[in-house]
Amino acid sequence: MTMAERISLKIDGKKISVLKGKERKIFYIHSSGSDAEQWRYQLEEVGGYAIDLPNHGESESAEINSIDDYAYYVSEAIKRLCDKAVIAGHSLGGAVAQKVCLDYPETCIGLVLVGTGARLRVLPEILENLRKEPEKAVDRILEMGFHGKSQEYERVREKYLKNPDILHLDLSLCDRFDLLDDYRGGKVRIEVPTLIIVGREDRLTPVKYAEFFSKHIPNSELVVIENASHMVMLERAEMFNSALDSFVREVLSE
Ligand code: COA
Repeated sequence: MTMAERISLKIDGKKISVLKGKERKIFYIHSSGSDAEQWRYQLEEVGGYAIDLPNHGESESAEINSIDDYAYYVSEAIKRLCDKAVIAGHSLGGAVAQKVCLDYPETCIGLVLVGTGARLRVLPEILENLRKEPEKAVDRILEMGFHGKSQEYERVREKYLKNPDILHLDLSLCDRFDLLDDYRGGKVRIEVPTLIIVGREDRLTPVKYAEFFSKHIPNSELVVIENASHMVMLERAEMFNSALDSFVREVLSE
């Protein structure tokens, strides 16, 4: 298990918890219904900081109505902990990472977009079932999000089922997130070096979404990881870390 250290911050009076691996200017943002632990293999081997978003993990609850609200907390945490960073986000976290990079550019040296998209529509049956039959909805998400059943699969399942309401809120925010036309029309421009990572078998945020980024982000590199689905940082940690580490070395001129 992780050797990461826990740090507590107060942002607008709320306790926000961050896990810290070895010192490195990388800031990780987890996906819907998850928490900083999702990045434990990266914290251990590559280093950096991983936030528990408000209402997740050991962070306090806060009123969150949009991806922008999460982006605010993340930008504040980055400013206080490491001034600026390579920002890595997965799925919902990838939407937050895009918004931090666009709205708080002073905090962002590079971007790592993992299993995410410029638009993140969610299957209506998932959103409906999370309210009525959470187990059914969670199993559907996991079936689309994992390459096969594993210990990691069971851990994530347990986490999701602990708080289906938060998972529902997060997925509703994803469903409303849409920068697709802004990228197409040039209203959104990501200027920093960007690494795009996706699992070949990802059915929640398919390779097509990653290719869209690759086309619209000028200074970007796309890595498609075989035998992996949505939870690629857990499923293929070694390959993931190797791609992340070389990218970070270059961006941080180490
Ligand atoms: N990047 C590039 N293209 C995208 C995109 C993205 N992030 N998001 C959507 N698109 C494309 C789609 O591929 C589609 O293109 P097409 O018309 O050429 O087939 C078009 O935009 C419209 O797609 P979408 O907005 O997703 O609406 P839809 O009504 O076609 O489909 C869903 C809705 C929910 C069925 C679909 O989004 C889906 O299967 N999502 C993945 C499953 C899921 O729940 N993921 C959770 C993500 S957090």
